[in-house]
Amino acid sequence: MSEKTGRPRVLVTREVFDETLTYLSEHCEVESNQEDLALAPDELARRLADKDGVVCSFTDRIDAALIGESKKLKVVANIAVGYNNIDVAACTARGIMATNTPGVLDDSTADLAWTLMLGAARRMTEVERYIREGEWNGWRLKQWLGIDVHHSTLGIVGMGRIGQAIARRATGFDMRVLYHNRKRVAESMELELRAAWVSLDELLRQSDFVVLQVPYSTETHHLIGAAELAKMKPSAVLVNSTRGGVVDDAALVEALKNRTIRAAGLDVFENEPKLNPAFLELDNVVLTPHIGSSTEATRRAMAMTAAKNAVAALTGGRPPNLINARAT
Ligand code: DGY
Repeated sequence: MSEKTGRPRVLVTREVFDETLTYLSEHCEVESNQEDLALAPDELARRLADKDGVVCSFTDRIDAALIGESKKLKVVANIAVGYNNIDVAACTARGIMATNTPGVLDDSTADLAWTLMLGAARRMTEVERYIREGEWNGWRLKQWLGIDVHHSTLGIVGMGRIGQAIARRATGFDMRVLYHNRKRVAESMELELRAAWVSLDELLRQSDFVVLQVPYSTETHHLIGAAELAKMKPSAVLVNSTRGGVVDDAALVEALKNRTIRAAGLDVFENEPKLNPAFLELDNVVLTPHIGSSTEATRRAMAMTAAKNAVAALTGGRPPNLINARAT
């Protein structure tokens, strides 16, 4: 708490929108890093030393050491639905609430997964380069042949809210939808989405498009590696719109080079933003820089959701998107 105003102190680690800061300032003393350069770990620790709350992004590592040093911290409000950047167990042990931003980004992220599917199917990387380089000198019947998305089989790995939003869009493309999830979704949801649960093996073998939407954790690290890629159809497309690390990128590079699979669409990478340079040499991959949720409306909604979570936690309420109920 600020001794002068008696209000909680909050650090905003990265650039947010004006309305996010206005809202936070109505309830808290706000210190923000609006230069939008990620704070180095020691700088983050220094700035958090006297803060009651932090509104952070998934690029900030909120690990056990930082939590140990941040003696006053009561809430970590992530501006992201994924929270693998936060040591939630360490937060819970210290009674610190951790929150995320579910719901507000499902449709935008699903749209981007579809962009990657369609882009990879219709060879967007190659054809864009071709036309920009002034190579196009006329229409030909057999030019740039792609594959159909409509009436093909979509396999979704991870059937949470975003997976469901991806499945919902498949109806318009008359697709057969398979999914794999640790827990089957309710039968009513399967009926609504016209989606059938199968094992991961079965999904990999049968799908024309495999879309990954599982959260990243130690269990999902390299969920898709060389062995899994070898199970996919040579004509299949892999889309990763969730987190780098779910795919073994080195194995994927080999699979794309050797045409073990046809193509990929990737929004996330291991060690991003330093992606495996081999991806840049490949024509059969569509690349985007982790922009799944990046529409103006969605990013504004995410930032405001995180701000509301932080304010609720610091003013005696229960944050709407509390991850660790045991912290309270
Ligand atoms: C999320 O919300 O987890 C995204 O990856 C960040 O846009």
